[in-house]
Amino acid sequence: MSAWKPLIEAATEAQDAAYAPYSNYKVGAALLSEGQVYSGCNVENASYGATVCAERHAVAAMVRAGKRKIDKVVVITPSSTPKWPCGLCRQVLAEFALEGDFEILSISADGQQRRFTFSSLHPESFGPEDLDGFVGRGDSAP
Ligand code: THU
Repeated sequence: MSAWKPLIEAATEAQDAAYAPYSNYKVGAALLSEGQVYSGCNVENASYGATVCAERHAVAAMVRAGKRKIDKVVVITPSSTPKWPCGLCRQVLAEFALEGDFEILSISADGQQRRFTFSSLHPESFGPEDLDGFVGRGDSAP
């Protein structure tokens, strides 16, 4: 479990920073990419649909740092049982599941932990390889 510790710490800090005045549901996420930790929190908006989840912010931080590969993810929510990334976030995570799969650890408010493989949460996903051979896949694709 020790490999998860820096991710748990980063996700906990991110959760504290979350901006969730509308739902009051603060989420922290952290991911490991090639030895580096990137984190994110949910950022809500008065125009509710403009809200961005914690997981997608963590992915954005990873990409900003020049990385493309997710090795592990931790999500911390205020729920009483561990919760899993929403459908939009699963699709965004799938883009960077470059070596097939990774584990996601979810932690509830009271510290309960559950771990799943990403592929079990998001099977048969549509990913970059499904666009192989089609126009629009540029040099910067992973
Ligand atoms: N939220 C996340 O940050 N991650 C998820 O996977 C599910 C939901 C946020 C979005 C919104 O700010 C709040 O939780 C309630 O939906």
